[in-house]
Amino acid sequence: MIRVLGIETSCDETAASVVTFDSGASEIRSNVVLSQIAEHAAFGGVVPEIAARAHVEALDGIVEAALADAGTDLSEIDAVAATAGPGLVGGLIVGLMTAKAIAAAAGKPLLAINHLEGHALTARLTDGLEFPYLLLLVSGGHTQIVRVAGVGDYQRWATTVDDALGEAFDKTAKMLGLPYPGGPNVEKAAEKGDAARFTFPRPMKGAAQPDFSFSGLKTAVRQAASAIAPLTDRDVADICASFQAAVADALQDRVRRALERFRAEFPDMKAPALVVAGGVAANRTIKATLEALCRDAGFRFVAPPLKLCTDNAAMIAWAGIERLRAGLADTDDDAFAFVPRSRWPLDGVSTPVVGSGRRGAKA
Ligand code: KG4
Ligand code: ZN
Repeated sequence: MIRVLGIETSCDETAASVVTFDSGASEIRSNVVLSQIAEHAAFGGVVPEIAARAHVEALDGIVEAALADAGTDLSEIDAVAATAGPGLVGGLIVGLMTAKAIAAAAGKPLLAINHLEGHALTARLTDGLEFPYLLLLVSGGHTQIVRVAGVGDYQRWATTVDDALGEAFDKTAKMLGLPYPGGPNVEKAAEKGDAARFTFPRPMKGAAQPDFSFSGLKTAVRQAASAIAPLTDRDVADICASFQAAVADALQDRVRRALERFRAEFPDMKAPALVVAGGVAANRTIKATLEALCRDAGFRFVAPPLKLCTDNAAMIAWAGIERLRAGLADTDDDAFAFVPRSRWPLDGVSTPVVGSGRRGAKA
């Protein structure tokens, strides 16, 4: 039996979790997530300094709650896994330093985990998925397609050259006067809207590379909105519906290319799988579009439960378990010397995409 305490503080969720693995079966013994949405709402986005302070105040209690919920204590924990990047550096410092202190005091190994690896491996915790598979990560800070071939074996096939998709939803909401976080509110407004009223660009559609771009779409939304201002509720609904349709269409084109490439690399796989992760995966239009795409392409569509798709510490504990089992755990010297990394590409080799200087706060 392996029992790992996970800690996640890379953005605006303070989270801790205990996950176990025993003779082939994994179990989430506790999963405590404290969202800071209320603290940031007035600013229309995550404020790094507020986030770091909120993590400092909450983390001890959240770790205690995760241990108590799991009916365990530090003496029974085999290792402490903490997000060490990418993300907002203030929060990362809080989480990693706390994990170092706990691990040192309890005499346990420490694992410095890449947050993206947590997202990438979640489907193995929830669905027992075998390698290899394709991951679409669509969150407030990342829009990536990653080929996941093993623990530590990741290849980024696509990323955004400008805004992350969640960021595009959040900025669109802000322009239209909808509250933060924007994604769910844009989706809600879109339900009553006419998706055919505005024809927004489908960024990158048809491009040979599977990369994403959303800033042109955002500009088109701004121009359409200012051309008809002041906006009625009907206008807002129509813009949201048209925006969402453009996003779904662009995403479908981009992901289709990746599915084709995956097929070409693994022609003998009977049931290849596409996994979605990240908060935007909650969007029903986007989910339905991807489901249909997978059905047509003969792919399994795997969407882990939303609370494990959005930021949480169970995925960090699980990545720790995967690393321990694969013999890829950090040595004590490396782990305790690890300095949080605000940028930390999952595959370590992907070259930066031209123009990708502006990433959102979230991962
Ligand atoms: O994964 P997540 O909770 O946090 C990280 O970014 O790591 O994702 C949050 C993002 C936000 O940008 C939010 O607006 C977006 O996911 N989001 C949605 C929906 N729910 C959340 N976007 C579109 N439709 C939704 N229903
Ligand atoms: Zn994340």
